[in-house]
Amino acid sequence: MMYEKLAEFYDALVKDEEATKAWVDLIESYLPKGKIMELACGSGEITIALAKDGYEVHASDLSADMITQAKAKENSELVEWNVMDMCHFTGEDMYDGILCLCDSFNYLLKEEDVENMLQGVYAHLKDEGVFIVDMHSMDRLEEFQEEYNEAGRINGHEYQWTIQTIEDCIYQNFAFYDEDGRSVLEQHIQKVYEPAWVMNKLKETGFKVEVLTDFVYPGICEGEKQFYICRKEVKA
Ligand SMILES: C[S@@+](CC[C@H](N)C(=O)[O-])C[C@H]1O[C@@H](n2cnc3c(N)ncnc32)[C@H](O)[C@@H]1O
Repeated sequence: MMYEKLAEFYDALVKDEEATKAWVDLIESYLPKGKIMELACGSGEITIALAKDGYEVHASDLSADMITQAKAKENSELVEWNVMDMCHFTGEDMYDGILCLCDSFNYLLKEEDVENMLQGVYAHLKDEGVFIVDMHSMDRLEEFQEEYNEAGRINGHEYQWTIQTIEDCIYQNFAFYDEDGRSVLEQHIQKVYEPAWVMNKLKETGFKVEVLTDFVYPGICEGEKQFYICRKEVKA
């Protein structure tokens, strides 16, 4: 299972206030204040920032441990939290905006999962509602051809984190060591999708799409992430 042991170390490893601000600014520039759902919300950094800024926020994640971390944070009571697989988007609520951020989309490994997720998003968006999703660019596959290796100590535990490309996927391996040397391991696999394939899936689902690279550059260009800003077009 992913994001079990990692959940307690996630913020210590990746929390980045500057990036959170960039995400919030991007979202606020496309999405007027209203009712939103963040899928795969993780430890809830962006989620809570949006709730503090006045959105009515629902948030969900597959990992109950990540939701527990989020709920422990200041202002978490502003958000309605839920454990949910984004491929099985349930509930009666309709949203002005739906978000899936920080390469969470890349955890969908099968075409069927992508289609189920996109159909669930479309079904839960109000007419003209906005779906914002970011994902790893193809350049990331190149970047991790050579293994990235990080080791250190966080929250009183030694850890090791490696990232490597194998074919069209990025493999991340985490090891957290107890005082007695015993380790807990987690492996994460993220699939990197061709932008043209993603665009096609989004348009087939019924979205009008604008793409940015690395928050600000229009279209697909060199960079770490593509951001797809998708507006629900009402099917005739
Ligand atoms: C890289 S983290 C990003 C978390 C968060 N969006 C953030 O801004 O930090 C990826 C998250 O996706 C979640 N996730 C992976 N597959 C999922 C799925 N099928 N449904 C819902 N959440 C999923 C993981 O549990 C994890 O919390």
